[in-house]
Amino acid sequence: MTDLERAAALETIAGEVRACTRCRLHETRTQAVPGEGNPDTEVVFVGEGPGMNEDRQGRPFVGRAGDLLTRHLGLIGWDRRDVFITNVVKCRPPENRDPEPDEVAACYPYLQRQLEALDPALIVTLGRHSMARFLPDARISRDHGTLRSVDPATGARRALVYPMFHPAAALRSPDVARQSEEDIRAVPAMLLEARGYREPSESMVAASASVVPDLAGGSAAETPSATGATAATGATVATALREELVAATVAVHPAGEPEPDPADQLTLF
Ligand code: URA
Ligand code: SF4
Repeated sequence: MTDLERAAALETIAGEVRACTRCRLHETRTQAVPGEGNPDTEVVFVGEGPGMNEDRQGRPFVGRAGDLLTRHLGLIGWDRRDVFITNVVKCRPPENRDPEPDEVAACYPYLQRQLEALDPALIVTLGRHSMARFLPDARISRDHGTLRSVDPATGARRALVYPMFHPAAALRSPDVARQSEEDIRAVPAMLLEARGYREPSESMVAASASVVPDLAGGSAAETPSATGATAATGATVATALREELVAATVAVHPAGEPEPDPADQLTLF
């Protein structure tokens, strides 16, 4: 798909979402919230559903949780306009209740089509409901900050998924806030890993083999890798990748030249 075709496909989906009456949530919404961002991005953030501010403005993550997400992106030098941000359900559940299974099921094809059009390398899920669309058996407290492969049936052909806590949970708990900050700081390294997963080069294959025990699913914590590592937390993957990168960078830059910051290789655009 060309860039123009991708943008057009996303706009078509957004138009359908704004007019959608497939589930009862359309009766109480002010505006549907299809999602927004850069059509050419490699990274998609998926939240649960619009809240009050999103419902009023028709845009995702524009309230307090959105401010935190924007701040988190700033920590890694990214702008929210560089990624794509959307939700599992596109209309606000009344009183911010959890979306019902039939509402999630009715809305899911829109997310699927968005992922088909975007073809991201990395999907960052925000909160339990979003994680459950990609990793039905995962638990947020155990699996946040870890990488798994995505089932292509989700619409994302060849992507890795990285579950994070919902920013609203981080606003309620200092402990979750600390863990979320740690998890977001690892996202650039997760993108690098995801790029390697899409187009394995020799160095990335080596890095993947050593730091991601089981990309094919299941719990990484329970699946020993060939090298005997037993867990791939975001932090360990990030650290190992960073070391790989530093080593690679040093190798290609002869002594005497200033070393480029490995983080420069992790920018989006
Ligand atoms: N929470 C979400 O899950 N999504 C939004 O868009 C806003 C808040
Ligand atoms: Fe349609 Fe999704 Fe809104 Fe339900 S939540 S009305 S399926 S766009």
